[in-house]
Amino acid sequence: MQVFERVPELRAFLSPLRAGRVVFVPTMGFLHEGHLALMRRARDHGATVVSSIFVNPAQFGPNEDLSRYPRDLEGDLRKCKDSAVDAVFLPSVEVMYPAGHHTTISVGELSVPLCGRSRPIHFAGVCTVVAKLFNIVGCDVAIFGEKDFQQLAVIRQMVKDLDYPLEVVGHPIVREPDGLAMSSRNVNLTPRQRAASTSLSRGLAAAREAFERGEREPRLLESIVRHVVSSQPEGEVDYIELRDATDLSALDGPVSRSAVLAVAVRFGGTRLIDNTVLVGPLSRSRA
Ligand code: PAJ
Repeated sequence: MQVFERVPELRAFLSPLRAGRVVFVPTMGFLHEGHLALMRRARDHGATVVSSIFVNPAQFGPNEDLSRYPRDLEGDLRKCKDSAVDAVFLPSVEVMYPAGHHTTISVGELSVPLCGRSRPIHFAGVCTVVAKLFNIVGCDVAIFGEKDFQQLAVIRQMVKDLDYPLEVVGHPIVREPDGLAMSSRNVNLTPRQRAASTSLSRGLAAAREAFERGEREPRLLESIVRHVVSSQPEGEVDYIELRDATDLSALDGPVSRSAVLAVAVRFGGTRLIDNTVLVGPLSRSRA
């Protein structure tokens, strides 16, 4: 496995490999099974697997957890190697944002609701860094997790709007045995917060069960999640919302197309997100 800190060296390495498909998995490091599942999935899609590890300051707001974002470079490189990654791009902030960098990419509508409401600059930061990484790596396929559902939607929109010649693949959420969606941030939870954090996935599972029994009212499905999450005092709800799974538009009437039930809860300075996609049988009447 090769490790590159600069753009020209990475491009020179990839140049003779472009005859085959180059598959890319961008990350911010402190890798867990969720990231590694994406890397293994990448293997199925092409000949060369490239991953990046870069904690992108542009996607953190002024009062967010950039300074306490966990890092473990040595462990990350070992995990990449064990996951058969061919090349890791490890740029510094100066490489990604040299003095005089001014351009920002914004995708508009899709970045406004859900996480965008409490993190107004977040998706512009994500899009800017991902656009740069796509241009640097020149990948044919890029793999993103469905845990960050809105991020995946925003990236798909950017790829379409800016004519990137690449395929975006979404990968299902990887969870801890007790249901908590894996996240690098989970390590920052206190034991009490960690115990309470399962309320996100438990709430979503309860709403999913109700949906499968025929419940279609968005506010009722949201209230099922709220009830479970609010039953523990540790977390402060940021949002619990049912939205259209494709364009993230609000659902006012009964669910009649595929929808995403998304949740964000703050546990002290650690903000966790989770979601579940509700799809058919959409025409079934209420039980
Ligand atoms: P990061 O949070 O490190 O996540 C990197 C990729 O792993 C993202 O596509 C994310 O959705 C996916 N991922 C994280 N946890 C997952 C889980 N439990 N199951 C499945 N996939 C999971 O997302 C980012 O970094 C950044 O915003 C980035 C895209 C790298 C841009 O800076």
